[in-house]
Amino acid sequence: MIRRDELYAGKAKSVFSTDDPDLLVLHFRNDTSAFDGEKVEQLDRKGMVNNKFNGFIMQKLSEAGIPTHFEKLIADESALVKKLEMFPIECVVRNVATGSIVRRLGVQDGMELNPPTFEFFLKNDALHDPMINDYHIITFGWASAEEIAEMKALTFKVNEVLKQMFDAAGLILVDYKLEFGKFHGQIHLGDEFSPDGCRLWDKETRQKLDKDRFRQGLGGVVEAYEEVAHRLGVDLS
Ligand code: C5P
Repeated sequence: MIRRDELYAGKAKSVFSTDDPDLLVLHFRNDTSAFDGEKVEQLDRKGMVNNKFNGFIMQKLSEAGIPTHFEKLIADESALVKKLEMFPIECVVRNVATGSIVRRLGVQDGMELNPPTFEFFLKNDALHDPMINDYHIITFGWASAEEIAEMKALTFKVNEVLKQMFDAAGLILVDYKLEFGKFHGQIHLGDEFSPDGCRLWDKETRQKLDKDRFRQGLGGVVEAYEEVAHRLGVDLS
């Protein structure tokens, strides 16, 4: 597969066209950003770790019947993916309260959420990704009612699969963000699933093993991602 032009450079990944109009190359860079791009650093090995981590998770989700854009790893820092028409929306599920929900609602940090919550955010850095609801999505034409229902169902199915998988590895899946798009009319999971877009705590010590280490300046960011990958059995060689 020939990697052609760079179509888009996000904060941590770049997207390239290929000689097949249905496929793209996703390149995971070492760039790490937080606070809408205000804090940016290069972290050695992060691109490779996230690419392989994401490939592992996407494969597990696909085996569980969740359609994903992931095709295969093609290099240490790149994967081949289906070209989706993305919804400009982020889907967030929380099993434990922390982060923005604590700031917004004043609830206890670390409290278990039963049932888990679901939130939509608009992907818009200039507006700081505001929280939106189903009515905004339908009124402004970002997705239909049927597409909303499917994104919610898939996001919760991901929770069932991954909560158990992380639990077996001694980790709590605190929360995560997913993005979806359409491929030939069918909704697929796109973007990535890595410790950049979820929160993972050690079950015993509640130590943070995700991007909060970077956001909060705790250090050992990539080492924590590698620890999680190691516990899950992701091949980083
Ligand atoms: O900041 P907040 O608490 O709303 O984040 C919820 C979850 O979504 C976290 O796991 C965070 O890493 C992820 N997230 C993300 N990208 C964003 C916003 C949140 O990956 N733009």
